[in-house]
Amino acid sequence: MTEFLTRAASAGGGSGPAGRAAIGLVFVGPPGAGKGTLAKTLQARAGMRHISPGDLLRQAVRDHTEYGRKALTYMRAGDLVPDEIVDAMIQAALAQAEGGSGWVLDGYPRTPAQAGLLDGFLASRGGTLNAVVYFEIGEDILLRRLTGRRLCPICGAIYHVDYRPPRSAGRCDLDGAELVARRDDAPDTALHRFRVYRAQTAPLIDHYRRRGLLLSVNAERPAEELYDMIWGSVRSRPATPLP
Ligand code: AP5
Repeated sequence: MTEFLTRAASAGGGSGPAGRAAIGLVFVGPPGAGKGTLAKTLQARAGMRHISPGDLLRQAVRDHTEYGRKALTYMRAGDLVPDEIVDAMIQAALAQAEGGSGWVLDGYPRTPAQAGLLDGFLASRGGTLNAVVYFEIGEDILLRRLTGRRLCPICGAIYHVDYRPPRSAGRCDLDGAELVARRDDAPDTALHRFRVYRAQTAPLIDHYRRRGLLLSVNAERPAEELYDMIWGSVRSRPATPLP
């Protein structure tokens, strides 16, 4: 962990059921860095609400909603889905998370425009952004992670054929469903997603560093160690208002 300063993007934020102040976290990092894995662990162990635009969009595609139909072409190509779709989904999910222990935005914002919108939304609702966790990792490792990733289509659990294999080959530990690979994890699409990340999302790292919100972690470390580092840092840091 190379740097860490927490500040609140706005005052307030309320208090969660556990009695501590609700925590707002953003996860930024390239495709396959382990954001979803860590966010799901924070949800299971710390009661944080995991909000993933990728998961919400995939669900919309499965449900054949209008948003899902519009998003599908972009997702298959590895491009970002238009803001009007993603912003609406995220704001609805954040509103639902109010009054809870906090939330983890996994994969939002991904552009400066989305970052501005998030600030405005939080300010208008008295929400708090405590830290932006940046998952630092080399691209050679990412490709191995993506091509070996398998998902449970029922509960969304994330596996890897080598690094996190299920107990029974090809089956989810939690519900026994047959695991699937994500279509956008095919090598050509994954490489395109890396390019999209570098061009559109990476500039956010300096933006949040300048604001003193960035928590950089070495995402090549084991997931269990990352969980201890991230939760150990954010749970004990009270949010302080911006000047
Ligand atoms: P999304 O689903 O968010 O994909 P992503 O950001 O590209 O991230 P990934 O889900 O690929 O990776 P991850 O970092 O969560 O890694 P994971 O934990 O699974 O977005 C998909 C698409 O939706 C986008 O391309 C775009 O079209 C659209 N979209 C999403 N957000 C948008 C937005 N804000 N605006 C517009 N469009 C948007 O781990 C990967 C693998 O590694 C797994 O197999 C896991 O088991 C393994 N692993 C994890 N951690 C470790 C570890 N520490 N050590 C070893 N293996 C590990």
